[in-house]
Amino acid sequence: MTTTKARSQNIILAIDTSCDDTSVAVLDGRKVLSSIVSSQVELHKKWGGVVPDIARRAHQENIGIAYNEALTRANVVESEIDLIAVTQGPGLAIDLEVGIEFAKNLALDRDLPLVPVNHMEGHFLSSLLLNSLGAGQVEDSIETVFPALGVLASGKHTELVYSFMPGEYLKLGWTLDDAAGEAFDKVGRMLGFGYPGGPIVSEFAEKATKEQAESFDLPVPMERSRDLNFSYSGLKTACLYKIRSLRESGRKDKEWVNAFCSEFVYKVVESISIKVESALEQNRDIESILVGGGVFNNVRMIRGMRKVAKNFSVGFYYPPRRYRGDNAAMIGIAGLVQYQKGEFLSGQDINSLERDPKLSL
Ligand code: KG4
Ligand code: ZN
Repeated sequence: MTTTKARSQNIILAIDTSCDDTSVAVLDGRKVLSSIVSSQVELHKKWGGVVPDIARRAHQENIGIAYNEALTRANVVESEIDLIAVTQGPGLAIDLEVGIEFAKNLALDRDLPLVPVNHMEGHFLSSLLLNSLGAGQVEDSIETVFPALGVLASGKHTELVYSFMPGEYLKLGWTLDDAAGEAFDKVGRMLGFGYPGGPIVSEFAEKATKEQAESFDLPVPMERSRDLNFSYSGLKTACLYKIRSLRESGRKDKEWVNAFCSEFVYKVVESISIKVESALEQNRDIESILVGGGVFNNVRMIRGMRKVAKNFSVGFYYPPRRYRGDNAAMIGIAGLVQYQKGEFLSGQDINSLERDPKLSL
């Protein structure tokens, strides 16, 4: 079958339902034509975290709507889609299933190739997305930024990933317990900020003034460990005890909370910077740092990584705000990379795709 298209690249339909956002995007190669993220934060707030079953029902209700909206905004009709990319994992099993079922049915129905995507590859490549006009941080071929170091910090993962070329990944370090985002959220909960606490901790940290400067002796996680792994449970426990003793001493939260959040953020940024520096020392061929994940919504995280990149004279790339947290556009670019490597399913093989909640890079 031949079709004539004004578009030069592959039209990709991308889907992510790995957690609490129902996300659908349409891309023309690396160019994002539309990106719909239907957030469920309000549904989960009263439970203090994501409830997989509630998320599943919301995904089922929203996915068809998000799909139609994504096509409309992209000005693309269903018959123009060339390939489908869907998150296979990691994520919540019963939530991943909704996106995968939708993608499978569409791929079988329209006889399209289906690319199973690792969600973390999406975060890794998110800074390489372009806007609909083709503008972005890396407009030349993406190969120019490789070998690259991915610094990924989300709600469930904190990872350092080496990539010699797009589509090939080697995990250098990961979290031994809580992820950085989880630590942000838990400290937020200790302070009574509700769910998700991470963004509010960051907000308070930015309000800290010099006059409020105060040291809380929080530790820098894994400061002296020789490997490239992370651990946030020690910092979290130190925060718990400190908050308790501050409150027991009768001091009002408002006197210390900004400075406390500020020190917490500082220690998290320090912990990641130290490991990134070690990774760069150990892998002298790295040309750039690529960051991704919701925790990079914190401005000091971005500044910290930019500083390390500058000290080591390597490139630094970060996604626009809308692609830092979960979204399907990043699944689209990862899908394109895998498709170009020949990693996709077609025909009846599509039926064999199953979710993999613990999928690792
Ligand atoms: O990448 P993401 O949206 O979802 C996962 O794949 O997990 O990351 C979510 C995490 C949550 O822990 C959330 O609190 C954190 O990112 N987060 C932030 C900020 N915005 C989101 N953490 C610190 N500062 C922020 N501004
Ligand atoms: Zn994510």
